[in-house]
Amino acid sequence: EDPVTEHIVADLALAEAGRNQIRLAEQEMPGLMALRAEMGDAKPLAGARIAGSLHMTVQTAVLIETLTALGADVRWASCNIFSTQDEAAAAIVVGDGTYSSPAGVPVFAIKGETIPEYWEYTDRILTWEGHDGPTIILDDGGDATVLVHEGVRFEALGEVPAPLEEEDPDYNLEVESMRAVIRRSMEKDPTRFTRMAAGIVGVSEETTTGVHRLEIMHRKGELLFPAINVNDSVTKSKFDNKYGIRHSLPDGINRATDVLIGGKVAFVCGYGDVGKGAAEALRGQGARVVVSEVDPICALQAAMDGYEVARVEDYVDRADFFITTTGNKDILRVEHMAAMKDKAVVGNVGHFDNEIDMAGLARSGAKLTPIKPQVDEWVFPDGRSIIVLSEGRLLNLGNATGHPSFVMSASFTNQVIAQVELWTNLAAYPLGVHRLPKEHDEKVARLHLDALGVRLTELTESQADYIGVPQQGPFKPEHYRY
Ligand code: NAI
Repeated sequence: EDPVTEHIVADLALAEAGRNQIRLAEQEMPGLMALRAEMGDAKPLAGARIAGSLHMTVQTAVLIETLTALGADVRWASCNIFSTQDEAAAAIVVGDGTYSSPAGVPVFAIKGETIPEYWEYTDRILTWEGHDGPTIILDDGGDATVLVHEGVRFEALGEVPAPLEEEDPDYNLEVESMRAVIRRSMEKDPTRFTRMAAGIVGVSEETTTGVHRLEIMHRKGELLFPAINVNDSVTKSKFDNKYGIRHSLPDGINRATDVLIGGKVAFVCGYGDVGKGAAEALRGQGARVVVSEVDPICALQAAMDGYEVARVEDYVDRADFFITTTGNKDILRVEHMAAMKDKAVVGNVGHFDNEIDMAGLARSGAKLTPIKPQVDEWVFPDGRSIIVLSEGRLLNLGNATGHPSFVMSASFTNQVIAQVELWTNLAAYPLGVHRLPKEHDEKVARLHLDALGVRLTELTESQADYIGVPQQGPFKPEHYRY
């Protein structure tokens, strides 16, 4: 019998290097380690089968081993073709015999996997021997959830999705690869996704873009199981999206380019949580930062924070860096890129690659010169060129290793609490998209104070009465914005 857990990873020989990094990350992830100490004996996730689709990094490895420490059975894929840290993937497969089963956890993730492979791997995490599928999804961006919903939709129609023609102007390799997975599944078993969905109690979603997709599905009446919006826990979006990006955006730019940021003009598209962190990081490096927004509130915030607010068109031939953070599509278009300064650096940290029109760039007559993995020079017919990072995909994960452990500990502590809630307290989450109660949010923050030497002031009873909150919290009403 093969002692090695089912897997598709780059190289199992990287496991030891991965294990060492995981060990160091544990030190920086106090929230997750506290949950292991608190619930490791009770095993509240016993019996749960968790399909995880989230960047297979060192930090995610600590998340996975927390889920298994709490009793879950887990399978994992990355939610981006470039974000896997191969050593972390290997270490999770091998396991260390302490937290997970000695044989480790099945992982399907390779840095630089193709898009068809990506969708196959997403399908692999939904495939459980002896069962119709997982009981809970842990998603980042919504791809695993959308695959299940699309599978159910095609099965209900009784219509195997036909291959899309590559010549078709609407052809999209992502969509076609997902349809291919459904096609193969339906040819073997025409009701697989329907049975699978019936066994899924819910999903916890990590990011803004995935939450938008869930809310659209719910508005259309198509959502098949309840969802917990982890992103909008305060201790997620106001920390990971902002302070995480503040760390990992310059990390990605530096590892990719070695171009000095100081003194240059950096253009940041979008001033939401991610945009705020991006702008602050670039300013911290001495760049003159210009921001674009569609929302007057965020535009005014950017102005008050001291940034110039302008349109891409106003700066297209003046900025040295263009960073998209909107979660929207068509932000940097070919006409913009063709007008940029020679060697301008172009990158995205929003969830999907459609913020930058890469397909249009390829069609524009510009020529691709690969510089190194995830760094490409695109040379226009007039000889000027731009540098595009990670093919327009999340550059902080493609060119660097994503956010650091401490901030991911806050995000992932919310994730684990959400999974436990779905598995043990489902009645509190009827069909819909829910945030975790504020008690949990405050708990996540509390678990991260000691490590930073924070001394919290305690309310006296009379102070608590005076402002009308319980002495131990929650301290703020739901509408408070932090
Ligand atoms: P957000 O909703 O707080 O911010 C996005 C901002 O972009 C909004 O203020 C919106 O008004 C603005 N915007 C929309 N269309 C625009 C346009 N055409 N031009 C200029 N601005 C526009 O969302 P958040 O949390 O900042 O997330 C943004 C994206 O980043 C999402 O796709 C999210 O999933 C992703 N994300 C990426 C992370 C990473 O590690 N790279 C971490 C967390 C989130």
